[in-house]
Amino acid sequence: MTTTAAESPPTMAAEHVAETTTTTDASAPHVPIPRRGVDYRDKIVLAPMVRSGELPSRLLALKYGADLVWGPETVDRSMIGTTKKTNPRTGCIEWSRTSHDKETVLYRIDPARESSRLIYQIGTNSPTRAVEAAKLFAEHGCPKSFSTDGGMGAALLRTPDLLASILTALVEEVGKPYEIGISVKIRLLETPELTSSLVNKLCKTGITGLTIHCRTTPMRPRERAIREQLRMIGDICRSHGVACLMNGDVAPTNKGSPSPKNTASTAP
Ligand SMILES: Cc1cc2nc3c(=O)[nH]c(=O)nc-3n(C[C@H](O)[C@H](O)[C@H](O)COP(=O)(O)O)c2cc1C
Repeated sequence: MTTTAAESPPTMAAEHVAETTTTTDASAPHVPIPRRGVDYRDKIVLAPMVRSGELPSRLLALKYGADLVWGPETVDRSMIGTTKKTNPRTGCIEWSRTSHDKETVLYRIDPARESSRLIYQIGTNSPTRAVEAAKLFAEHGCPKSFSTDGGMGAALLRTPDLLASILTALVEEVGKPYEIGISVKIRLLETPELTSSLVNKLCKTGITGLTIHCRTTPMRPRERAIREQLRMIGDICRSHGVACLMNGDVAPTNKGSPSPKNTASTAP
């Protein structure tokens, strides 16, 4: 994929972007954007991708026009207990673990080139560990936001109370003290009613953004994304003042001019 990206960056961006469009309703509520956070509205972003979303891809995406980039989902347990240091040669901050005299870098950020545009995605099923992992990063002012992935093993989508408690803990113990935004990414549930109930619940936790991957959990990437629930999800997010991002089969688009098939994606 990186090779393809290097040969044809716009295609890579088109395949794996989450996209927002902005409505003009000035009276709509708007969750305040934390001082060191990021406003997702009207942005084209590189979606979180394990393996693919490492530093080189992120820098490439930024170079070719992404406004924001997600790092790969990184499980909280793998980050807790790592050692942080700045690489004197590159200036990158690296979190690594040493085993049998071999050092493995688990996460690398380039504060100079991505600090104002990086979102760190935590894979977690525990409020305590999520907070612990997020705090490893929070002091740097980079990333600009933490997100959790409700699609992780799909388990969290089945336990909305746990997912909401993770987000609340992140908002209260990391987002507020460090003035960083917290967001969540979910997939569709089986019915609009179930999705609506989940989105409403998550929007009440204090998050600044919600990404909807327009597929249900069992759906494979080659299956066409479902757009029918998008308007409803955008409306719920808007009513709470939470930015709504969407992805799944997003077509190439000029920045600020979404293709017609994506006009249902909304942000307050
Ligand atoms: C290689 C790869 C890795 C992915 N890793 C993650 C991930 O770490 N976290 C996540 O929330 N979604 C992940 N996704 C899903 C994407 O973020 C996005 O939701 C999905 O690719 C959108 O569908 P599309 O490929 O049809 O545009 C991954 C997708 C791909 C292709």
